[in-house]
Amino acid sequence: MKDSAGRHSGGAIITTDLLRQLAYNEKMAELGKISAGVVHELNAPLSVIVSASQMILREEGVPEVVQEMISRISSEAQRLSQLTKGLLNFSSHDETVSDVDLNLTVDFILNFLNFEAARRAVIVLKQLDYTLPTIRLDGNLLKQILLNIIMNALQAMEEGGGKLLVETAPGATDTVCFIVTDNGPGIPVETIDRIFDRYFTTKKPGVGTGLGLFVTKSLVESMGGEIKVTSRIGGGTTFTVTLPVQQ
Ligand SMILES: Nc1ncnc2c1ncn2[C@@H]1O[C@H](COP(=O)(O)OP(=O)(O)O)[C@@H](O)[C@H]1O
Ligand SMILES: [Mg+2]
Repeated sequence: MKDSAGRHSGGAIITTDLLRQLAYNEKMAELGKISAGVVHELNAPLSVIVSASQMILREEGVPEVVQEMISRISSEAQRLSQLTKGLLNFSSHDETVSDVDLNLTVDFILNFLNFEAARRAVIVLKQLDYTLPTIRLDGNLLKQILLNIIMNALQAMEEGGGKLLVETAPGATDTVCFIVTDNGPGIPVETIDRIFDRYFTTKKPGVGTGLGLFVTKSLVESMGGEIKVTSRIGGGTTFTVTLPVQQ
């Protein structure tokens, strides 16, 4: 039952926009679960392709041109297999705290977003510090934090000529940090204080939910870390996330 203000008997007001957004989020969540199933199904045929192609390569007298083609089939199937394993790992709801390598996580997410960057013709640069200690946290949550920040940067660079830089570095005592810089349009001073607010978005419905940075900031703070942003109109945006090595 609804009254004239659209108030449900439960008391919460649900506007048409909010309802649309919730319906969209729910659809994406369901699609995500179905996709995880599909990806899982891909595992078996991919391992058949990998092992069959390796058996063919071990045969004697296979013409060179066939060997070349089979090697390509094998390496592409191995690449897909890595991707599906990564996807399954990432989509799991396990809460496992372990010693996580920040650089490997950055590599995983950049690999994962390779296509999103390529289709916007964004050049991706990395400057990783390989002497960093591992950090003790839930690796899937770290992936989600990186995904949100980097995806926002890519979405800000739709115009072409985009450049994305991801750096890792030691922070102050017992912390590590990563820095994501884009050369997109920047964030106006009027809105920069609101970007971490729940439902704040400047994107079209269906593109943005306004939840990404809200969730990201909450996750970072729940790990005892900190997120900072600096931006200049026309000069791009930089997000810096600092995380303690031990929580
Ligand atoms: N790298 C960026 N460059 C420009 N604007 C950004 C950037 N990252 C975030 N924003 C702004 O912050 C808003 C909120 O981001 P977010 O919480 O992830 O929600 P969404 O991506 O769904 O809009 C975005 O709509 C955008 O206006
Ligand atoms: Mg976002």
